[in-house]
Amino acid sequence: MNERVSTGISRLDMCLGGGIETGIITEIYGEAGSGKTNFCLFMAINLAKNGTVIYIDSEGVSSDRIAQITVDQSTLSNIKFFRVRSYDEQLETVTKIANLSQAIPDIRMIIFDTITAHYRAERDKRAELRKRYGNTLTYQIEMLNNLAMNLIIPVIIVNQVYTEKDSSNVLPVGGSGLAHMAKAILKIERTGSGRRDIVVIKHRSLPEQKRCSFTITEKGIE
Ligand code: GTP
Ligand code: MG
Repeated sequence: MNERVSTGISRLDMCLGGGIETGIITEIYGEAGSGKTNFCLFMAINLAKNGTVIYIDSEGVSSDRIAQITVDQSTLSNIKFFRVRSYDEQLETVTKIANLSQAIPDIRMIIFDTITAHYRAERDKRAELRKRYGNTLTYQIEMLNNLAMNLIIPVIIVNQVYTEKDSSNVLPVGGSGLAHMAKAILKIERTGSGRRDIVVIKHRSLPEQKRCSFTITEKGIE
């Protein structure tokens, strides 16, 4: 059986076949406010109790929210936050992490929240770089995939969504590159106030459309 890492909630782990798989990329997407960052932070904080978590943050994770989820400074110091403020910085950071990974002890997980934020914003502004950016996004995903395989850890890539014009379906941004490379794809859907479902979109050992529920609370998720 492929190794799994706990989400921090045993009920969710059971629903997800044991947790989040090591050695592969899991893509998580969902609408703004669906709870992607909450889910990732909660998982990061739980894993950081026993090792290092790398958290690449392109959106500015709320320090207030982190303080609500944990007050334990030694756990927090095990989460290495890399704040990326532009698409170029993002490419540099992923390359740096790939080069440094052997030197960072005991990496349990890498999270990239959100890989398409700068890509989307800057691509619209700078059409002439569209081609290069398309290619470098794939390059980043490949580097992260190699890290997942070599370190035998889960890599979580958070993605934004857009609404398809004709069907009003909500789809992940960034073309098919990530969809191919990610061996698990999970969508987070709002089902009520604080209530969320993780919907299995693609998985190697779970049925499509399987739903696992969680609730966003003051202390994190449950
Ligand atoms: P984007 O980054 O904008 O795409 O959103 P996201 O999917 O990362 O959503 P995020 O994880 O930031 O979740 C935002 C949701 O968490 C909002 O609906 C908030 O109301 C909810 N939330 C944040 N703090 C609390 C809290 O203390 N209690 C409750 N019940 N909900 C909270
Ligand atoms: Mg977020």
